[in-house]
Amino acid sequence: MEEKIKEILKTIKYPGYTRDIVSFGMVKKITFKEGIAEIDLYINTKNRETADKVASEVKEKVSSLEGVKEVKVKVETLAEKEPPAPKAHTSTKSSPFADQRKIEGVKCVIAVASGKGGVGKTTVAVNLALALAKKGYKVGIMDADVYGPNVPTMMGIEGAVPQITENNKITPIDVGGIKVISIGFFVEKDQPIIWRGPLVSKLIEQFLRDVLWAPLDILIVDLPPGTGDVQLSLVQKVPVNGGVVVTTPQELALQDARKGTKMFMEVGVTVIGIIENMSYLICPHCGKRIDLFPHAGAKKAAEDMNTKYLGEIPFEPKAAEGSDQGKPVVLYYPESEQARAFMKLAETIIKETECIEPIQ
Ligand SMILES: Nc1ncnc2c1ncn2[C@@H]1O[C@H](COP(=O)(O)OP(=O)(O)OP(=O)(O)O)[C@@H](O)[C@H]1O
Ligand SMILES: [Mg+2]
Repeated sequence: MEEKIKEILKTIKYPGYTRDIVSFGMVKKITFKEGIAEIDLYINTKNRETADKVASEVKEKVSSLEGVKEVKVKVETLAEKEPPAPKAHTSTKSSPFADQRKIEGVKCVIAVASGKGGVGKTTVAVNLALALAKKGYKVGIMDADVYGPNVPTMMGIEGAVPQITENNKITPIDVGGIKVISIGFFVEKDQPIIWRGPLVSKLIEQFLRDVLWAPLDILIVDLPPGTGDVQLSLVQKVPVNGGVVVTTPQELALQDARKGTKMFMEVGVTVIGIIENMSYLICPHCGKRIDLFPHAGAKKAAEDMNTKYLGEIPFEPKAAEGSDQGKPVVLYYPESEQARAFMKLAETIIKETECIEPIQ
């Protein structure tokens, strides 16, 4: 009977994700005795509503099984596993997920996310990595955008082939001292990639465990847009020391930035802050600043979400061109206003993240 119950639980998707609660490891125990089914769930969220939704679906589905007279569901959530944080953006120090394990030899994992696509996550991830490397840190980039890996193009290493060692470890591609891994190295360009949840989870696991990252001070993870299987798989597997949310100044993007911030908070990741990309343009003729959208929205979103505003990155025509040609601004146009903004962002991140020690 327990097997039957498990099978029916496999049909319940975690709200907002393509994966079911069994494959996410949320079902901790199933017992069945004299018509009474007892199910223990551990749901990786601080959002009680989500947890309640899952619990009631479990109750409903299991009750429908023949022979079941009563269903008892016990739910534990992230909120119960840790003391309430004093501030919304400070969060757990202890590992909230049972399966979470640090990557040996990597001091700090920072994830770059956004609620909306195309706002500049990869641009920020790549240039932030370069800026941190310029400051003397050992940096890696994990391109976790399994659906549209852009890191190889932006770093000018498309077509690179990572070596596999004798004991099946993957050697990341080295670009000027930065270690990079991306699914883009393993699939044909422009080939649409369709990943089902469990495969995404396996791939993320491999990128974390089977890549020779060590020694690293900081591993930057470039996430796909929105909240989905990749985001959840990542935080389940490894303690993420901080999340950076990228947004553009439009109202719609800001709403999504709030969602992105909430996603990190719900899974217990400290949100370092929100960065506003493509905020303004420096007129190439008169040198004056032109705001591209009505301004100060990201700052407001950060205040609303009780997190830090990390500043603004200007629109830089050279950046748009450089990303297609594999010429990141911090490396190729270090004197530009945008490159300076990225250097400043790196400094803020170092200051705000406990796992990174300042280099004198
Ligand atoms: N500050 C900027 N100045 C000029 N161009 C920019 C800037 N930020 C991003 N871009 C350009 O905008 C496009 C989208 O940026 P990017 O790929 O970094 O976004 P993304 O959020 O990672 O997108 P996706 O959601 O598809 O992963 C790219 O062509 C990039 O070069
Ligand atoms: Mg991207």
